[in-house]
Amino acid sequence: MKTLLLAALLGAVLVSAAQGTDGEMSFEYHRYDELRKALVSVWLQCPTVTRIYTIGESFEGREMLVLEMSDNPGTHEPGEPEVKYIANMHGNEAVGRELLIYLAQYLCNQYQQGNETIVDLVHNTRIHLMPSMNPDGFEKAASQPGEIKDWFVGRTNAQGVDLNRNFPDLDRIIYLNEREGGANNHLLQNMKKSVEENTKLAPETKAVIHWIMDIPFVLSANLHGGDVVANYPYDETRTGSAHEYSASPDDAMFKSLAKAYSVYNPVMSDPRRAPCRKNDDDSSFTDGITNGGAWYSVPGGMQDFNYLSSNCFEITLELSCDKFPSEDLLKSYWEQNRNSLVNYIQQVHRGVKGFVRDLQGNAITNATISVEGIDHDITTAKDGDYWRLLPPGNYKVAASAAGYLTVIKKVAVPHSPATRVDFELESLMERKEEEREELMDWWKMMSETLNF
Ligand SMILES: *[C@@H]1O[C@H](CO)[C@@H](O)[C@H](O)[C@H]1NC(C)=O
Ligand SMILES: *[C@@H]1O[C@H](CO)[C@@H](O)[C@H](O)[C@H]1NC(C)=O
Ligand SMILES: [Zn+2]
Repeated sequence: MKTLLLAALLGAVLVSAAQGTDGEMSFEYHRYDELRKALVSVWLQCPTVTRIYTIGESFEGREMLVLEMSDNPGTHEPGEPEVKYIANMHGNEAVGRELLIYLAQYLCNQYQQGNETIVDLVHNTRIHLMPSMNPDGFEKAASQPGEIKDWFVGRTNAQGVDLNRNFPDLDRIIYLNEREGGANNHLLQNMKKSVEENTKLAPETKAVIHWIMDIPFVLSANLHGGDVVANYPYDETRTGSAHEYSASPDDAMFKSLAKAYSVYNPVMSDPRRAPCRKNDDDSSFTDGITNGGAWYSVPGGMQDFNYLSSNCFEITLELSCDKFPSEDLLKSYWEQNRNSLVNYIQQVHRGVKGFVRDLQGNAITNATISVEGIDHDITTAKDGDYWRLLPPGNYKVAASAAGYLTVIKKVAVPHSPATRVDFELESLMERKEEEREELMDWWKMMSETLNF
């Protein structure tokens, strides 16, 4: 991951500085250069809590820009969970792209004004916003003359690849492992080389895969358009049928996450909302949410890939019936989604979190956290820190690592905040050493008693 070259930004910086950085929000579409400038403006306005970086380049060489918000931009703070929003993966689905720009501006404005909710959020969460995963597709869609845009132009990347069908299909592996035994998490672990060598992966997909692998994301959402619903895993059906409820082991949590978005969006959660189009099949929608497979099966999608390759829980948000609505509607989309976007980020502070260390207090990286009754483990990050999203309830949580004795704890989880549970694991080497010493003591005592 490279930090954006300062030189490359300088032009945009000067323009933004000339425009002033007074935190005004203007509800317009941002083409590629304008997107850069908008992010740079936020950075200039809130330099202590933001950073701009790029995760790579699109096929045509446009940067895949991310605005990060955190009290310590550029570093993972031990114990602090990370969240990402990705939009505009389908280049012609433009609303999410704009919403993430407005969200960046809003968070920066509110932070500066001392809004306690936002200050807390920024101090306790590392937030990554990627307004466009498919900058080439967006430029193509936006270049069409007139207000009405074609339903498909700009959907794919410049190579014609649908990025939301382009991820390694880990669902097929997990469904096999469910039947025959095998890993229930981090399925890409021993396949990294095959990602590098996979010529079918678009550069945008590859960049996002590396991003997911590099940062210990806990929560994520992927912003789309064309319907209005919050969609949760699994997206691909077990049998391959077109429509079939496909529960993941974390079905209850995913439903809760999807609802955390939909309830604050008055249009999405409206039970009387008419379908976007007359023939739309949204019979699987309730409370503005749907299981992905129940709606329609998506192989090779990004949502399930997050869950099956990393610790990150991702849902997919469909935000507007129109994929590229007219500009004068953007403000109302922002108003519909603002509270949802903030509330969803706050969900990362739920469940169980803490550290796994050895008896000397050293971090244990890549330890396994398992929850009884949920067949999906997560792992500790570099500093031994972990976040296990869970709905309210009583759980048995186990921490284990190769060469250590497993520790199991009973944990009560309220709705929020997350319950802090740290684990101290005794190394098996230490245990053997202790046992040897005990045996020696016993032998010494016996020898003395028996007067050898
Ligand atoms: C502070 O931010 C929260 C979350 O976005 C919002 O609901 C609230 O209205 C804001 N408070 C003020 C005074 O603007
Ligand atoms: C993490 O631990 C698992 C076993 O639980 C192992 O298969 C994997 O190789 C480890 N990964 C790393 C990066 O050490
Ligand atoms: Zn889409």
